[in-house]
Amino acid sequence: MPRHFLNLSDAGGDAIAAMIADAIDRKAARIGKPRGAADADAPLAGHTLAMIFEKNSTRTRVSFDMAIRQLGGTSLILDGATSQLGRGESIADTARVLSRMVDAIMIRTDDHAKIEEMTRHATVPVVNGLTDLSHPCQIVADLLTVVEHGLALPGSQWAWLGDGNNVLHSIIEAAGLLKFDVRVGVPEGYDPDPTFAEAARAAGANITLTRDAAEAVKGADVVVTDTWISMGQAHAEEKLAAMMPYQVTPALMALAKPTAKFLHCLPAHRGEEVVADVIDGPQSLIWDEAENRIHAQKSVLLWALGRLD
Ligand code: CP
Ligand code: NVA
Repeated sequence: MPRHFLNLSDAGGDAIAAMIADAIDRKAARIGKPRGAADADAPLAGHTLAMIFEKNSTRTRVSFDMAIRQLGGTSLILDGATSQLGRGESIADTARVLSRMVDAIMIRTDDHAKIEEMTRHATVPVVNGLTDLSHPCQIVADLLTVVEHGLALPGSQWAWLGDGNNVLHSIIEAAGLLKFDVRVGVPEGYDPDPTFAEAARAAGANITLTRDAAEAVKGADVVVTDTWISMGQAHAEEKLAAMMPYQVTPALMALAKPTAKFLHCLPAHRGEEVVADVIDGPQSLIWDEAENRIHAQKSVLLWALGRLD
């Protein structure tokens, strides 16, 4: 069975910890090299990653491309519109064909059922580059970023403000796997899918939902937000209005720990989910977080191809 990475639980807590450790080592070992140069051991030399995009992307596209290059391999991109997927060829047939041609597939799509369908027919690893349900690769990069900045994950307090979306689902999943707590400040009607919180709680994490933004961030080590309108969602004034009390401001950040870090997966909308003073301020780790997509994606690929446990 290939190692698919649709959600963080496909790898489990130990493998996620190994991914973070390996990313830190590889990142340190290549300081000073041009970004497109391969790591000394080029562990995926000769390997090709196919990337399918049915939604826009900057970071995921560039970071996976640079990741496979740095591992010694190469990538190719299929977009929904110009591949036969855009003319109705099935996911199943696409998975079967790509499995005969490449070594791994990364797909960004809308309905999570599509990526699950792909895993039923692919004989090479399938990696989730974001679906409407989850964004696990992003969260490996987020975990790497806060660990790099000195946070011990077990027992740490994370606060999420805003929409109960795909990125939040993966953070809650990570909390269960790596034993940290998440307080979610979210307006009524926009709660996350409860199955992620149920699983994390069963694994021992404290996952709390509150309508009070101040309560969510109080004493937090990490404050995270994301766009209020995700890709594929209609722009709705009603939703923006409901989200406004959850906008990350300096006043809210002041309620978190003085050492608290701010994360945002990007793209950001300054003046909506976060104000410029926070996202461009001293507590923000967003540029490290964005760069770490490369280092995290390398670990994900190594794990998926059986080079990391
Ligand atoms: N954070 C993230 O996934 O960015 P892109 O949409 O640019 O890939
Ligand atoms: N929640 C956002 C994340 C973008 C990287 C979206 O799905 O559009």
